[in-house]
Amino acid sequence: MNAIAWHLVSIGGRLARSMHVVPRQTVQVEDPFCDRDLILDLGGGGEGVIGQLRGRQVVAVDLRKEELDEAPDGPIKVVADARNLPFPDGAFDAATAFFFFLYVRDADREAVLRETYRVLAPGGRFHLWDAVVPPVGASAARLFVVPVRAELPNRTIRTAYGVPWRDRTMSAASIAALAHNAGFEVVSTTLGGDAFHVVLSRPY
Ligand SMILES: C[S@@+](CC[C@H](N)C(=O)[O-])C[C@H]1O[C@@H](n2cnc3c(N)ncnc32)[C@H](O)[C@@H]1O
Repeated sequence: MNAIAWHLVSIGGRLARSMHVVPRQTVQVEDPFCDRDLILDLGGGGEGVIGQLRGRQVVAVDLRKEELDEAPDGPIKVVADARNLPFPDGAFDAATAFFFFLYVRDADREAVLRETYRVLAPGGRFHLWDAVVPPVGASAARLFVVPVRAELPNRTIRTAYGVPWRDRTMSAASIAALAHNAGFEVVSTTLGGDAFHVVLSRPY
């Protein structure tokens, strides 16, 4: 092997050591929505999984326009901060967050849940699919990476989500506790591998 090849192998090795990649998570995204529902999708850029599920019924919110541009056409796309949503109280029938809280620092999650509660109509449900993120501990890895296979009723989407690991931990229980503080009722919690699905409800 020549010097350049050795250099590339060494870079590859360092890159691999800087990432913690969990096994691919298969996530069933059943469709719990009605045709009349207006759905707020938080962090709806990237693959835009919920936009691919419900098209123009979805208002996809993301901080980054590039992420919204990347998502397939269909949803209404709005550049906005989920901690301070530009929508009136009770504007949405339902809300979703597909591997979004992974991208939100621990300290900001409660603000996002409070805003979602505010813009959700009484009786509205909030579906969250996300990854269990353990404490970084002694790991030298900087990035926490979750490969995902999202199984929708009409298609399967393969992708991977990666975030800085140092300031993040998450579990279904930690999200449920914050949601409870924000006023939500926890309807159900489903764990599967390193991923979870939590359903919240804004009480009447
Ligand atoms: C990669 S997406 C998650 C996956 C996406 N839901 C999908 O279907 O592929 C996470 C997004 O959250 C966005 N984001 C992070 N913090 C945010 C915030 N406070 N408000 C709105 N969007 C935010 C990021 O810009 C990123 O595009």
